[in-house]
Amino acid sequence: MHPKHLPLLCCPITGDPLEVKADRMNAHGMVVSGTLRTPSGNSYPIVRGVPRFVGSEHYAASFGYEWNRWPRVQFESENLGRPMEGHTTRMWERITGASDEDVRGKTVVDFGCGPGRFLDIVRRKGGVAIGIDLRPAVDCARDNFKDDPDVLVVQGDLFRPPFRPGTFDGGFSIGVLHHTPDPPRGLEALARLVRPQGWVSCCVYPKGDFYDFLSVRRLRAVHLRLRSVFGYRFAMAYSYFAAYALAPFVRKAKQFGLRRPMQFVERNWLVSLYLKDARWRVLDTFDAITPEIASTHTAEEVREWLEKAHCREVRMTPWCPTSLSGGRDA
Ligand SMILES: C[S@@+](CC[C@H](N)C(=O)[O-])C[C@H]1O[C@@H](n2cnc3c(N)ncnc32)[C@H](O)[C@@H]1O
Repeated sequence: MHPKHLPLLCCPITGDPLEVKADRMNAHGMVVSGTLRTPSGNSYPIVRGVPRFVGSEHYAASFGYEWNRWPRVQFESENLGRPMEGHTTRMWERITGASDEDVRGKTVVDFGCGPGRFLDIVRRKGGVAIGIDLRPAVDCARDNFKDDPDVLVVQGDLFRPPFRPGTFDGGFSIGVLHHTPDPPRGLEALARLVRPQGWVSCCVYPKGDFYDFLSVRRLRAVHLRLRSVFGYRFAMAYSYFAAYALAPFVRKAKQFGLRRPMQFVERNWLVSLYLKDARWRVLDTFDAITPEIASTHTAEEVREWLEKAHCREVRMTPWCPTSLSGGRDA
């Protein structure tokens, strides 16, 4: 972490300010190892440049495996000249509805940043990018941004974020809160960190959509049952099979007039997700069938969460029915 980010941070338990004691700095002035301390004596280590406020949460274990395996597949730089070029940027813009002016020169927080594909978009748009996630993900994010002083990644629990209230110009959480035990509380924690009139965006799985299909729910249940014996091997084997054999076959069959029966199979029996790049298909199939918690929601629910979190002018954004944005109360 760069010491200039210290004013953003606070003790997640008491809210007290933190002081930094650096044991090792690098040539870019960043603290590689050291300790963050409150005046009352709570302390948190900085390890490999990342302030560590919690360990890992068991319910999010599958993501640790996922990000170690595919740390950069969804980054724009990995997709230049490939079929999914521009997808991550379009996705972020459509979900948040944020303009370039909402980001340039601003400090923006990503709740559940994973390896950081959206932190990367904030940086490309000239913002300072702050990410929070659990243990294995933050190490991947740290490796992805190495010595960029305008990225801060912290290992923390989004329900108890180590940031001062009202600090950020904007904040978003994409594809995260439905994997937690209490999405509205997570969104409230996010909104609390954003300054008055800053922007807040959220995207969760919509009810009735792909992640709600009986086929996906069944396969998730099978994976969770087999996990103690096979680890992630079953889910991995299925994801490769679906990405390289099943999804292309289903697509062809639909083109040859079998749309209805194929849709029935996809909804009820076989998880098949067509994205133009097979690497993305593997990642997204694995991502769909492995999480322990995966709830689905309606637009009305998300609107209500945002309003309860003191956001006004809440609007649906063009990505999906459950991507919404609002402005923090003045
Ligand atoms: C599906 S991934 C989405 C990652 C990223 N937003 C993206 O779309 O690339 C969900 C992420 O939420 C993180 N997560 C889940 N519960 C969390 C919590 N309580 N605190 C912080 N991060 C959490 C997981 O570790 C995981 O990296």
